[in-house]
Amino acid sequence: MRKRSTIAIALLALTASVGASRSAGLQDFAEIERGRYLANAADCASCHTVPGSNQPFAGGRPIETPFGNLVSPNITPDRDTGIGTWTDEEFDAAVRAGRQRGGARLYPAMPFPYYSRMSREDVKAIRAYLSTVPPVHNAVMSDALPFPFNLRSSMIVWDRLYFKPGEFHPDPSKSAEWNRGAYLVEGPAHCGACHTPKTLLGGDKKSDALRGYTLQGWVAPDITSGQGPLGNWSVDDIAEYLKTGHNKYAAAAGLMAEVVQLSTSNMTDEDVRAMAVYLKDIQGAASPGPGSVDQNVLTAGGAIFQDLCAACHRQDGQGIPNLFPRLSDAATVATPDPTTVLRVILQGTPTVATDREPTGPGMPAFGWQLDDEQVAAVATYVRNHFAHAPAVTAEQVHRMRATLAKTE
Ligand code: HEC
Ligand code: HEC
Ligand code: HEC
Repeated sequence: MRKRSTIAIALLALTASVGASRSAGLQDFAEIERGRYLANAADCASCHTVPGSNQPFAGGRPIETPFGNLVSPNITPDRDTGIGTWTDEEFDAAVRAGRQRGGARLYPAMPFPYYSRMSREDVKAIRAYLSTVPPVHNAVMSDALPFPFNLRSSMIVWDRLYFKPGEFHPDPSKSAEWNRGAYLVEGPAHCGACHTPKTLLGGDKKSDALRGYTLQGWVAPDITSGQGPLGNWSVDDIAEYLKTGHNKYAAAAGLMAEVVQLSTSNMTDEDVRAMAVYLKDIQGAASPGPGSVDQNVLTAGGAIFQDLCAACHRQDGQGIPNLFPRLSDAATVATPDPTTVLRVILQGTPTVATDREPTGPGMPAFGWQLDDEQVAAVATYVRNHFAHAPAVTAEQVHRMRATLAKTE
């Protein structure tokens, strides 16, 4: 009798502990999944993986900054060359406070000023997920910036000027959806890292948040709303672009194609929509207007457009939905800075691939066929005729060719 009850108690204890460890297991799994989702929204893989390699997070990708190139570190759980022996506190300090192990400052090429908006639990979940990826032995040499930026201590000044640490706080006067979108855009998804104008020292101009910036030879256009170029887009148009890489107004090329492919196309429809709702609510700046344009240049440009471009983009610039982007009122065409338009005309674009749209169409290059005057003329025509944007000079085309030659 006594024996049986002991066994019963022992059994009870056993099932209780099995139950506990199973629910701990489920909890871990949920945390890892949440971490995987956040790492994806934060696009950690894009910088910390060499494109085309099958060693995610192993580092070694050169990251262009206004001051020179850095190389991304290995953040796999490898114990010698990765972050396998880091504590959760050290990891949190790197991601949210921009500190290396040991306390030295990271360069803001690692977007910690944005990641600082995440909670401690968010970052712990990312860590939990990263602990599950295959460890890769890859010793990365970083630190290639020229003086004085090679001194990590010079970042103390930078941090003081531009880094406001602190988690995201929801705005109670806005909807839950708006707040979710604000959290994603300002936090993990770090949209402003490319879309917000920078000071000479590479800090965000907070007052111009998301109003457009040129980096690595690409224009990341103004993505505020109101009078801004996205003013015409509906919430659904923005969501569709983030989910698939295109909509009836535009198709994502270059850096944004990568953001869509690696990050936003894998986010839930609810999250993508929440970001769109938030962006729609940010008021934009007025556009600068066309200025004066030489009528002969417009005529020449119009003739080239008719010959070489209208087959795809149509004569009225409306394009063909989801195939050839509409040029009229497109943000890339309307921005004061013509960099993207010139780049696309000179170099063409690669095809975009996302999970949903494996083979988006690309655009052929015209740089070999047209000289600087002709490219300037057709770019001026497109910008003036379809978007009331300022003219482009042959000199600008010449400089753009030189920039592109350097990056090839
Ligand atoms: C835009 C590019 C970029 C993105 C996106 C990015 N990182 Fe980084 N990360 C870097 C660079 C560059 C460094 C090195 C900076 C330096 O040398 O000061 C770095 C450094 C780090 C470090 C410090 C490693 C060490 O050995 O000192 C950690 C940890 C880290 N990143 C984790 C992450 C995580 C987690 C994410 C996603 C939440 C992420 N990074 C997203 C570019 C990026
Ligand atoms: C790595 C830099 C980078 C990041 C990060 C980035 N973008 Fe972009 N984005 C660009 C560039 C460059 C373009 C222009 C693409 C083109 O010319 O096709 C662009 C284009 C866009 C456009 C289309 C504008 C138009 O009218 O054509 C939208 C909308 C947009 N981005 C939203 C976002 C949002 C939302 C985020 C954050 C989730 C984000 N971007 C993050 C670089 C970036
Ligand atoms: C064979 C079809 C085709 C022809 C011809 C063509 N394009 Fe394109 N164009 C495209 C496609 C497809 C894209 C979108 C590519 C992408 O984003 O990956 C595009 C994108 C663009 C963009 C960027 C639009 C945006 O919102 O990002 C501009 C500007 C542009 N084309 C101008 C021109 C000009 C000027 C010509 C003539 C010199 C021309 N195109 C000829 C197919 C074409």
